[in-house]
Amino acid sequence: MNIRVFDSDESLAAKAAATIFELIIRKPNALIALATGHTPTATYEHLVKLIRKSKVSVSDLSFVALDEWVGLSPDTEGSCAAYLNQHLFEPLQIAPDLIRLFDALSPDLLSECLKTDNFIHAKGGIDLIVLGLGLNGHLGFNEPGTKPSYSHIVELDEMTRTVGQKYFRTNVKIEKGITLGLKSILESRRVLLLANGAHKSEIVGAVITSGTVPEIPATILHQHPACDFMLDREAAALVETRR
Ligand code: PGA
Repeated sequence: MNIRVFDSDESLAAKAAATIFELIIRKPNALIALATGHTPTATYEHLVKLIRKSKVSVSDLSFVALDEWVGLSPDTEGSCAAYLNQHLFEPLQIAPDLIRLFDALSPDLLSECLKTDNFIHAKGGIDLIVLGLGLNGHLGFNEPGTKPSYSHIVELDEMTRTVGQKYFRTNVKIEKGITLGLKSILESRRVLLLANGAHKSEIVGAVITSGTVPEIPATILHQHPACDFMLDREAAALVETRR
């Protein structure tokens, strides 16, 4: 795990976006997996600007969403699909057949998992995955205690249900999630794990100082050969003292 600390969230986002952009230049038909949440928003804004400015074609890129709240439609504000459509797919005019989103309204969620895994396989694997870090150490909806697997359905952790309300204007019932698994994450060729803000400093410190333990799913990334853990100063507050 390559730990990189930035002076501000702005500089973190600029570097993360530049890293994704470099991949797009190098491999115009790359498959990119994307987290949602508050963490990567500035990164995606930078990325859209970089792509627009350079006029590079993104018509051969493919995207897969990291996760989704079970029971929410893609139109629900706060759903992962709505977020990615708003921040990336609509601004970049990505064709729907190049995007794989979990249909969290499907009566057959297992087949949703298979469809996502097959999409990834058909594209030759994930070239780069952007991840945020949950306050409980989760990656996507791989909650504490999760065993490494491919896409799967999850009973959400109490903390995820509570913290997750921040994405919605009204109180939304969120009990289950559907997510790429830890194996899907580990098999991605490149990982950008992003964390910003003082509220993340405790969990960031725990991830960095702990070996791989199931109680903190993000610690599995210690086993990844090409993972950048990109932090702003606030999120990194405990890193120097604990390392
Ligand atoms: P956040 O969520 O980016 O909104 O902090 C991260 C996560 O829970 O994975």
